[in-house]
Amino acid sequence: MYTHLQRDATRPPVTLSTLARMKADGEKIASLTCYDASFAVLLDAADVDVVLVGDSLGMVIQGHSTTVPVTMDQMVYHCACVARGVHRPFLIGDLPFMSYPSREVALEHSVRLMQEGGVQMVKLESGGKQTDIVEFLAGHDIAVCAHVGLKPQSVHKTGGFRVQGRERETAARLLEEARQLESAGADIVLLECIPASLGKTISAELHVPVIGIGAGPDTDGQILVTYDMLDITTGRKPRFVRNFMEGAGDNLEALKRYVRAVKQREYPAPEHCF
Ligand code: KIV
Repeated sequence: MYTHLQRDATRPPVTLSTLARMKADGEKIASLTCYDASFAVLLDAADVDVVLVGDSLGMVIQGHSTTVPVTMDQMVYHCACVARGVHRPFLIGDLPFMSYPSREVALEHSVRLMQEGGVQMVKLESGGKQTDIVEFLAGHDIAVCAHVGLKPQSVHKTGGFRVQGRERETAARLLEEARQLESAGADIVLLECIPASLGKTISAELHVPVIGIGAGPDTDGQILVTYDMLDITTGRKPRFVRNFMEGAGDNLEALKRYVRAVKQREYPAPEHCF
């Protein structure tokens, strides 16, 4: 029993309690996406705190232009691959497009990500309409990350990959949604592509850890798509991406540089913010 706690006593697994303590202590949470076991081993060795098996795999692994085509079976497959490679990081898996249309279906798919995929938390792109789903999952003791701001699964409806919350009304709505999702039981809130000032406000208002991507330097943690920060992705990259391969000898060193830059608050710099 509890054998995972004995695997390496000097590097105990990151849990929600660890992340809560990091927020309380002002220690930044370094997070990255991952899709396979080989990168998972590297991320673990680099001391990344949180690993997300993101449905961004639809774009960086499968070559689609959005995350919409990603299926539940594909998410389970990639989560299981990553779970075999990580020991210390807290592991989150994305619920893909239309896998949480109702509370019951969301529960069924969350159970699959946990039991077959081996993740510790599920993430769903959330707004006001998802609070009852978050509440239902939390009521079944499933750890939930609520993804707020730019929601890539909704790009066909919202008109593209755009910064959210620039106007006063939308900023107020996003803050209110984040509050409601926390009250509903979300254990982490992830903010994507919002002004740095809003990222700061939401992080200060919420009690749970807030992890940002393109949400400024004042969130409790940062996350990037690993293929972006290792400069594997070709073409134009979002403003918030920094190339950590520059000056690094190999992938592991680049990953360690990222963790250090997040912890020491060197990343994100003003040029990475909206
Ligand atoms: O799918 C993903 O990789 C994500 C990150 C961009 C946060 O949701």
